[in-house]
Amino acid sequence: MKSFTPSLGLLATYIVGTQAGLRFPCSTLTSQRLDPAAQPGALPSAHLHMIVGGNAFNATMEGDVAERATCTTCQMAEDFSNYWVAHMFFKDPKNGTYHRVMPQPVQPLLGGSQGAQGGLTIYYTQFDLSKDNLKQNPVKSFPPGFRMTVGSPTVTGKPHAGLSYQCIQGGNRGALISTFPTTKCNGGIFTTHHFPPCWDGKNLDSPDHQAHMFNTVKSEYFDAAPACPSSHPVRMPQVTFEITWDTTKFANLWDPAKDANPFVWSFEGTAAGTHADYMFGWKGDALQRAMDKSECFYDGCGSIKKQAMSEANKCTVKDFVRENIDGCMFAPTFHLFSYGVLC
Ligand SMILES: *[C@@H]1O[C@H](CO)[C@@H](O)[C@H](O)[C@H]1NC(C)=O
Ligand SMILES: *[C@@H]1O[C@H](CO)[C@@H](O)[C@H](O)[C@H]1NC(C)=O
Repeated sequence: MKSFTPSLGLLATYIVGTQAGLRFPCSTLTSQRLDPAAQPGALPSAHLHMIVGGNAFNATMEGDVAERATCTTCQMAEDFSNYWVAHMFFKDPKNGTYHRVMPQPVQPLLGGSQGAQGGLTIYYTQFDLSKDNLKQNPVKSFPPGFRMTVGSPTVTGKPHAGLSYQCIQGGNRGALISTFPTTKCNGGIFTTHHFPPCWDGKNLDSPDHQAHMFNTVKSEYFDAAPACPSSHPVRMPQVTFEITWDTTKFANLWDPAKDANPFVWSFEGTAAGTHADYMFGWKGDALQRAMDKSECFYDGCGSIKKQAMSEANKCTVKDFVRENIDGCMFAPTFHLFSYGVLC
């Protein structure tokens, strides 16, 4: 399968010919320095995240998230999972100040999902984007309490396959690259995170939040899922996040001919440190029902309850960390006490 960078027309073609997996938007739930997967209990965590999903989100999260949540910013009304990524910032090349880059809904969104605010688009694919292959490759839902991460803020060089950037120009997502684009992207910077799909069948988590999963992802694309290894024999849904970061309002503040790429993650690090976190929280067997069927493709899923994004957008959590994350800032990273200091 080639790069999935569809125009609306192309996407329609995919849908007619295929039935494989869920794809749906989730609006931003909150942006805070919290990280219940990698830094449980830390209030605040080391760097700022953009979080979507259910309102059980908190500094510490144990047990069945879906039991505690009462609303979700996701279009799938039974999905109280949380999904989060590092926040993107613009670091002004003239004076070194930081400004938050906002996410905007991935386009195109289908089937009444318009109205998402910020956030990201989630995929749960069974095999690849064109078939589910369920007979050969049944898919097991994640158990309550399950969490995992992909990528790491400390990685340098090249990110793991499946973690990528694209420069959106005139509605076209452009080539998949493994670092921040070096040109201006008039449609924003698009990022993708593919999670590993093979589970050890035992552990809800592991010390590095990754060892309980085996990563079969070998390219930046929605590849066909190969067999899982005997160490991690359980085939799970292939989870993917897509995000459009709206870099356009910073376009006249830098000059690609003179300045290096001015976009950074909240942990600074490098582009290779792009990472994402997943905390499972579907209600009961809702995800298993979806994964057992061939009927789910994109948001056209008969047996799964959906909600209007106008309803999803009402879901919030409290501001646990209570610090400034907007406006012009010095040093938005690491430094516990200077975080969010206004210019
Ligand atoms: C967040 O977690 C703390 C500590 O476990 C708990 O006391 C508090 O009620 C939770 N808050 C919300 C809004 O869930
Ligand atoms: C740095 O530049 C930005 C963008 O031009 C501006 O908003 C900000 O006020 C400047 N900050 C300082 C401290 O000079």
